[in-house]
Amino acid sequence: MRVELVLACVVFLLQSVVSLRTDRQYWIDLAQNELDEALHTKWNVNTAKNVIIFVGDGMGPNTVTATRIYKGGESHRLVYEKFPHMGLLKTYSADKMVPDSSSTATALFNGVKTNQNTVAVDATVQRRDCARSLKEEARLPSLATHALNAGKAAGFVTTMRVTHATPAPLYAHSADRSWECDGFMPDTVTECKDIARQLIEDEPGRNLNVILGGGRNTLVTPQEPSDNQWNCERRDGRDLIETYKKDKESRNLKYSVVTNNKELNGVNFNETDYLIGIFANSHLSLEYQRDKGPEGMPSISDMTGAAIKVLRRNSKGFFLMVEGGNIDMAHHRGRAKVAIDESAAMEEAVRLAVDMTDEEDTLIIVTSDHTHTLSINGYPNRGSNVFGIAQPSSFDGVNYTTLSYSVGGPETFQFYAETEDNETTVRRREASLDQTDSMNYHQIAAIRDVEGSHGGGDVTIYARGPYAHLFHNVHEQHYVFHAVMHAAQLDKATDSSAQASASAVTVIFLLAIPIKRYLLPNLQ
Ligand SMILES: *[C@@H]1O[C@H](CO)[C@@H](O)[C@H](O)[C@H]1NC(C)=O
Ligand SMILES: *[C@@H]1O[C@H](CO)[C@@H](O)[C@H](O)[C@H]1NC(C)=O
Ligand SMILES: *[C@@H]1O[C@H](CO)[C@@H](O)[C@H](O)[C@H]1NC(C)=O
Ligand SMILES: [Zn+2]
Repeated sequence: MRVELVLACVVFLLQSVVSLRTDRQYWIDLAQNELDEALHTKWNVNTAKNVIIFVGDGMGPNTVTATRIYKGGESHRLVYEKFPHMGLLKTYSADKMVPDSSSTATALFNGVKTNQNTVAVDATVQRRDCARSLKEEARLPSLATHALNAGKAAGFVTTMRVTHATPAPLYAHSADRSWECDGFMPDTVTECKDIARQLIEDEPGRNLNVILGGGRNTLVTPQEPSDNQWNCERRDGRDLIETYKKDKESRNLKYSVVTNNKELNGVNFNETDYLIGIFANSHLSLEYQRDKGPEGMPSISDMTGAAIKVLRRNSKGFFLMVEGGNIDMAHHRGRAKVAIDESAAMEEAVRLAVDMTDEEDTLIIVTSDHTHTLSINGYPNRGSNVFGIAQPSSFDGVNYTTLSYSVGGPETFQFYAETEDNETTVRRREASLDQTDSMNYHQIAAIRDVEGSHGGGDVTIYARGPYAHLFHNVHEQHYVFHAVMHAAQLDKATDSSAQASASAVTVIFLLAIPIKRYLLPNLQ
């Protein structure tokens, strides 16, 4: 009896996997359902009390397509693919056809396109021009600044260092995105403050209600320098977490400081208006490698949930930015499965945000800052593993994978030279020799570099809630800022009490130990 039951289940599963429907009625129903949805889509012209912007870093349209197939096959729909409105964004920066993440974050959150590698300053500032970046007229306020000025709460969540390119323009102004802490600032630059100090000491950083992510060594001078050339480490002896606590105490604000899952789960959200959680020395772990135990670190969903619990205490509403940064990190290494797994993890965070908020008063946006050079190659069968083999090339009979890159990292190269009769031929490694479905697999790339490069294609923007219909065709990326300002009426509101709280902070200037680091790695 039980054996029969198991067999019946196996047969059913096999049928549902193998015999994907192709009949005429199936397609008609699929399209009619979509038509019905489209005919019932209404414009929501309420004011957006709350705004949540998700940025899948490097999550271009091909990454979204691969995520969809990975999660449920070709006709599956991700949570945000059911949002009623969408458009495309042109991601070029003021000086580059293909942008980096700080110029695109400045476009999204500060409303002006700017030069590559600069943070919340306009294009009159060239990279590393500290003096010019200090000019008031060059500095761009962010959506977080405007939300706080309107009396709302504001904050951000990232899987990167909290001082990294995507969150930085929310609270800092810098002529160089790599000036995350004093350790990466050349000793010729004395007037400009590093990004970490701006976050903790300055407006609007010190008024942010939620700061969740990584980057402990950027905020707190480590006892033993790790010499990780990618991670800015403090050298000046400062402990900016202590500065954070002192600032909140001196203003009688209710705050919580957390460093792991146990502490995050222990936060009393009835009593917390300011939450800072720094869970790693540098970026957070990849989702599939994360320690989920009490001493480990939270997922992007865990952080998003905690952020909303703090921010919604403000009756005037809130602004929240959530970055899935490891999508980009994995693409830079040429690890498509990891990138797509990270993109799937961000989708879970979007689902949670949808569940925790009301479409009537909360504008949720899901977008990306730029694409990567990932492509989806012909012609795998419908229903096949997106991390599998597409087919053999009819040119040389060698299999290739469905996913590949144009420009990949150092480990993505799978070509080799073969010399026969004094003739050298470049050949491609047979894809079926490797575990292409493994998290450790590096897809092939036409061009090998120190790291994979960003792509210059348009990114998609999905929106739900008040004024989501403002995203409806091919937009400039910096239009997002202007549309959000309008949807939340931040262009009209100014809360005088919020501005009056901008009291002076006493800052003790320690003698900084300047470290020369001219040969910075490419941090895009
Ligand atoms: C928080 O407030 C809610 C509602 O007032 C209450 O039910 C809950 O017990 C409180 N939690 C804590 C930890 O105080
Ligand atoms: C190509 O891949 C298929 C499926 O994995 C395999 O059966 C075939 O032997 C491979 N071709 C070569 C030339 O190795
Ligand atoms: C290969 O090149 C060498 C040196 O030029 C020559 O002596 C030899 O005959 C060549 N072999 C063939 C198979 O052409
Ligand atoms: Zn990048």
